[in-house]
Amino acid sequence: MRTGCVVGCVAGATLLLAGCGGNQNTLDPAGPPERRIVHLWWWMFGGSAIGFAVIVGLLGLGWMRRTRPGLPGGGGDRAATAIVVVLGVAVPIVVLTILFVYSDIFVLRSVAAPRKASTQLTVKVIGRQWFWEVRYPGTSAATANEIHIPVGARVNVVGTSDDVIHSFWVPQLNRKIDLIPGRTNRVLLQADRTGRFRGNCVEFCGLQHAHMGVLVFAEPPARFQAWLRNEAKPARTPTTALQRSGREIFDSQACSGCHTIRGTSARGTNGPDLTHLETRQTLAALAIPNRRADLERWIRDPQHVKPGSKMPGLELTKPELRDLMAYLESLR
Ligand code: CUA
Repeated sequence: MRTGCVVGCVAGATLLLAGCGGNQNTLDPAGPPERRIVHLWWWMFGGSAIGFAVIVGLLGLGWMRRTRPGLPGGGGDRAATAIVVVLGVAVPIVVLTILFVYSDIFVLRSVAAPRKASTQLTVKVIGRQWFWEVRYPGTSAATANEIHIPVGARVNVVGTSDDVIHSFWVPQLNRKIDLIPGRTNRVLLQADRTGRFRGNCVEFCGLQHAHMGVLVFAEPPARFQAWLRNEAKPARTPTTALQRSGREIFDSQACSGCHTIRGTSARGTNGPDLTHLETRQTLAALAIPNRRADLERWIRDPQHVKPGSKMPGLELTKPELRDLMAYLESLR
């Protein structure tokens, strides 16, 4: 009774978690590589649950019949030896061999770094303290923290780091890879449904490690191509007096020393490329949404939004901030 209850509770809690769906849920796969991992996980969970139930059952039986001489199930020394040989040696060897073959042949191979010829797109992801620089080799597109991919396509993600070790993981799409300075690691991203999949840095990389989020948008191919074409373009030219003034403030203040806006004289590389800032849904590696009030707060007082970040607070007057906002909001 009690054994069944424990197993039932564990299974119930797991199913409950699996049912949460959507947000960084490892058990809610959105593509073939992660689906393989999840199958392996369920097989291991099921096998462990059965093994656990058998062991607890035997312990319970032994405890209930503790006053009787001999084995709890009856039988003498020969029966005891048989139990040890079968349950203690033969069964574990068979189970571990099956799991080894299954995980090595079916799972590890499908989540290994993809052969380049088997992928349709390469995305470069560079870990930085604390954001993700994202580039699309072969185009001039550069963005941050938000990766767009065509649904169904096999995407070769090439990851490296510019400072310390980070680790890139989008739980619904595949396993994690470490991003290490001076070397590259690769992982396959493949989504078989459209959607927005959240990931996070999973290697402690400093003060804002926990606020180093990443989003993957799996989109219909035509929509993805339109997005990429726009991202590859230089920034829009300001059209209003406010925007023009904002651009001058951006150039003359510290902004341009750290950020690039392609097509202008701002070519800093300490922070994210802002050429198409307004096409992003989030700011500061997903710490805040990309809305007017949040962007304003981020510019005025970044150290309260994200303590330790390299973004300095600027002493802007109200009209300066208004003009700068007008310019930033025109970067579509
Ligand atoms: Cu980057 Cu933790």
